[in-house]
Amino acid sequence: MRQKIVAGNWKMHKNAEETEDLLNDLIDKLPNDVEAHIIVAPTFVNLASAVDHLEFTNIGVAAQNMHQAESGAFTGEISADMLKSIGVGIVILGHSERRAYFHETDALLAEKVNTALKHELQVIFCFGEELKDRQSGNHFNIVENQLKDGLFHLEAKDWESIVLAYEPVWAIGTGETASPEQAQEMHKFIRETITSKYNATLAEDVSILYGGSVKPDNAKEIFSKPDVDGGLIGGAALKATDFAAIVAAI
Ligand code: G3P
Repeated sequence: MRQKIVAGNWKMHKNAEETEDLLNDLIDKLPNDVEAHIIVAPTFVNLASAVDHLEFTNIGVAAQNMHQAESGAFTGEISADMLKSIGVGIVILGHSERRAYFHETDALLAEKVNTALKHELQVIFCFGEELKDRQSGNHFNIVENQLKDGLFHLEAKDWESIVLAYEPVWAIGTGETASPEQAQEMHKFIRETITSKYNATLAEDVSILYGGSVKPDNAKEIFSKPDVDGGLIGGAALKATDFAAIVAAI
């Protein structure tokens, strides 16, 4: 079901004490009058404490990744069942940093999506083109292929648990935010691509987040676009006042 969502991807930041401090700061500063699902994604070691800490709030907790296998000899990895066992119900998959640094392919991500859905996890599926793709005018093809190869094996009913996050790689962590028009153009294309594969009703019902240098001073204009349903926030999620200002802009 389509909804407004603002999710903070903390990446590899905040130890246990810093996590508790930021969560307390967020509880204090986040607006409580916005019609949006607010999510934070701390690192693995802080997920259980974050779930406990946020139990009586409306803030959801997401993992930043998970392995596709049920269990096994995968040193350092975390399974879907382990996430569910500590009360985590959402997982981010396909972030460009995992695609780049850990060589996660669309085929591998399709397996991860399948395992996440099998365990009734909601998936925030990330994708987006690199600067060279946009400069060559190939960005629509890249995004279309990421959707097709990562998600288009799913049945229509599976999409109830899918949230999309379009994150142009050239905008992540760079301060080079996509313009609201660029975001809207790609989000509209994404919905059209889903319509072609499935149907317009399903496409209209998918939440599509924008990620890539969303800040308090640009969030409102980006979020105002008709096919933008919120944001996946990196750097600005690490400061409660900034994240709260972005949530207030939804
Ligand atoms: O997953 C969100 C992240 O990639 C965006 O990072 O720092 O550009 O907001 P940032």
